Amino acid sequence: MKIPPVKGTRDFYPPEMAIRNFIIDGWKAASLRNGFEEYDSPIFEYLKMYQIKSGDEIVEQLFNLTDRGGRDLAIRPEITPSLARMVNQQINALPRPIKWFSVPRLCRAERPQKGRLREFFQWNIDIIGVDDVIADAEVIFTTIDYLRNLGLTDKDIKVKISSRKLLSAVLKNIGIPEKKLDSLYVLLDKKAKLPDETFDKLLAEQVSDSEMAGKIKTFMGIKKVSQIKEKVGFDDRVDEAIDELAMLVDLLGRMSVKNYCQFDPSIVRGLAYYTGIVFEVHDVVGELRAICGGGRYDNLLKDFGGPQISATGMGMGDCVLEILLKEKGLLKSKQLKLDYFVACADNQYFEKAVELTARLRLAGASAAFSYKATGLGKQMKQASANGAKKCIIIGEEFEAGQLAIKDMGTGEQELVAIEDFFEKINN
Ligand code: HAM
Repeated sequence: MKIPPVKGTRDFYPPEMAIRNFIIDGWKAASLRNGFEEYDSPIFEYLKMYQIKSGDEIVEQLFNLTDRGGRDLAIRPEITPSLARMVNQQINALPRPIKWFSVPRLCRAERPQKGRLREFFQWNIDIIGVDDVIADAEVIFTTIDYLRNLGLTDKDIKVKISSRKLLSAVLKNIGIPEKKLDSLYVLLDKKAKLPDETFDKLLAEQVSDSEMAGKIKTFMGIKKVSQIKEKVGFDDRVDEAIDELAMLVDLLGRMSVKNYCQFDPSIVRGLAYYTGIVFEVHDVVGELRAICGGGRYDNLLKDFGGPQISATGMGMGDCVLEILLKEKGLLKSKQLKLDYFVACADNQYFEKAVELTARLRLAGASAAFSYKATGLGKQMKQASANGAKKCIIIGEEFEAGQLAIKDMGTGEQELVAIEDFFEKINN
């Protein structure tokens, strides 16, 4: 009986693994370059952790289980609640600001589709303990720094930025009561994914006054922050949120990444815990789902029983990113690259090849040899397939204490005395 992989999961054979490593190594390098330290959490947590503040959508998508002690658990669908739990646990001991990153493997029982699977990897960067927009700017900058480093330009991707604070102020100013905001956010977040008529119908169900509904739609379509006051009205709270966005844009300009960014009030974010600046990165063509998303969540630590400490961060999955990089011809893979392949000119040198390979490895070089006695041509082929930079061919010269070393790039071959060679490697 053949058993297939579970729907929405992936097998990573070496070529796929090489791509995954290319993506993840870049995430880690960008995090360290921007001053983030790595952390991790368990892959399962108490189910109730996600029921507190992640939002209904995430809860519906949980893979949950009951352990033998009858405890309700869930596989992590995101790491932000675990981060809040971990920080709360050591809140007095941790030096602030906390700038942490992680690359968790996550599971969500979503309907598998292009760019959305049931198991994926997600880069997370978060800054905790800074209530100034400088932290939001740092998170956005680090995100762009990674994407730019891959070769994606502002013609390929845009960071669409808005603010939950602004949205809530505008909605309240329009006349929407506070208690209706959360359910309205869920609908507004889906606007781009719904046909216009469906959105209008769902909006009318939540906001029966057509003038109010019209103003909400006008706001969602605004392209410039400067148009907000004139088009949908303002009060002190709206003013404050606009000022905060202006400060963010100023900082992003100073960081030389403003060209990647645009204001887009239709960015709401699906998760329930966001409180301030929110953003998503999208492909400019608009064919793919969001590449990443994040924002400020100033109440999550408190909701998890800790102190009121502000936080902001971002999560980027590997799936949409991989599709986009493939489309743009920017996907590279970290395949096997050996320093040396040890080949035998004749089968009688097989044991010597074993000894030499082991000696190379013990000296810190990466090396391999053929397990089977085959012709030199086949061994050279294996050397190329293994990405070997050099091939050491053991033949007659070996008896005279010499190694024939072939550069696989240039094809040039040289003879080197074995002990001189190892002296060089050891140094
Ligand atoms: P999220 O919007 O749920 O936010 O996910 C962020 C990113 O994770 C998405 O933009 C996408 O790249 C990836 N992602 C989400 N679901 C899937 C899926 N089913 N398959 C593949 N990729 C997926 C969060 O998770 C927040 N916790 C991010 C955050 C960190 N906010 C603040 N700090």
